Amino acid sequence: MESKRTDLFEEDMENVIYLDDDADLGVLKNKKVAIIGYGIQGRPQALCMRDSGLDLIIGIGDPSRSSWAAAKEDGFDPVTIDEATAAADLVYILLADPPQPEIYYQSIHDNLKPNCTLAFCHGFNVLYGAIKPPENVNVVLFVPNGPGHTVRQKYLDGSGIYGAISVEQDVTGNALDMVLALAKSVGSLRVGSVGVTFQQETEGDNFEEQVLYGGVIHLMKATFETMVAGGYPPHFAYAKAIRSLRTVVDVMDSIGIEEYISRRSSRTCEFAVRMSGPRVIDRDEIQNIFDETERGEFAANWMQEWALGMPRLHRMRRTGADSEMEKTGVEWREKFGEG
Ligand SMILES: NC(=O)c1ccc[n+]([C@@H]2O[C@H](COP(=O)([O-])OP(=O)(O)OC[C@H]3O[C@@H](n4cnc5c(N)ncnc54)[C@H](OP(=O)(O)O)[C@@H]3O)[C@@H](O)[C@H]2O)c1
Repeated sequence: MESKRTDLFEEDMENVIYLDDDADLGVLKNKKVAIIGYGIQGRPQALCMRDSGLDLIIGIGDPSRSSWAAAKEDGFDPVTIDEATAAADLVYILLADPPQPEIYYQSIHDNLKPNCTLAFCHGFNVLYGAIKPPENVNVVLFVPNGPGHTVRQKYLDGSGIYGAISVEQDVTGNALDMVLALAKSVGSLRVGSVGVTFQQETEGDNFEEQVLYGGVIHLMKATFETMVAGGYPPHFAYAKAIRSLRTVVDVMDSIGIEEYISRRSSRTCEFAVRMSGPRVIDRDEIQNIFDETERGEFAANWMQEWALGMPRLHRMRRTGADSEMEKTGVEWREKFGEG
């Protein structure tokens, strides 16, 4: 892994992997860090930052929200988003993405101190112009590449989650130092964080979610449904479609795909993977999804779906919950637990 410290950003940051020695938590000494939103990412990241010695203020919509109670439970004294923003030198937005623009213009935009640092955990709203930060603040991005509870668990284990960082606007000359300190405080420089642009982080994330998550989930469903339609017992098909992947992914990540296929799997499995696997993947469609994402079509479709109250997602959720595969999954977990 290459570690290369640079004070430049944008193109110069790309492909640079930053490690702990590249960052100094001292830049946040005597500075107030506002955590805006205390959910899947906000809560675990805030707990790590507190353990790393940062001075935090937690901003939440209002006391009726469940995250207000969660912050109190963790020993914080939450305040409104307006109050937290006005008090902070670094404002880290960890709200869910769709309501961010409305909350931003209601409570954040006019309360930002000049020369403060505004940090995001996903570039979507800035990239597509739904949030336009003022010209007198730093604008940065830090994303740990994993779910919040894993971020916290790895931090407690003395490790961290690989992350991505970006600087979109640098008014103070030390925006990169600020975002590196943020990444270090949640453990993401213990393993490395790569410099990217807001565009790469956002479109890369949108592409990954469509192709990898979308593809794998629909492959699991197709495997289950084809086997059941072909007469297999649902429980057996369920184990094949989901359970068998769990351990295999971890092994491939730790020893490499080739080592797994050629030495750890059976020779029949190797033959099956190499000969039939490519038939399942439609490269042209993957390229189409990539191009649509780069043209902003995915983002436009998603923003429209959200603005309409997510009608298609609600309908699909109902159908999905009623499926035989989901029902089999419930029975499976009751019978076999994590086994
Ligand atoms: N989830 C992940 O694994 C993940 C991974 C990488 C990056 N990210 C990024 O991290 C950021 C936060 O995502 P998240 O998954 O942590 O979000 P989340 O858990 O769904 O929500 C975060 C916070 O937003 C608040 N919130 C939602 N709607 C609100 C509203 N209308 N008014 C006021 N507060 C509202 C929630 O409050 P209540 O709990 O009180 O409703 C909660 O405190 C996003 O930019 C996301 O893209 C997430």
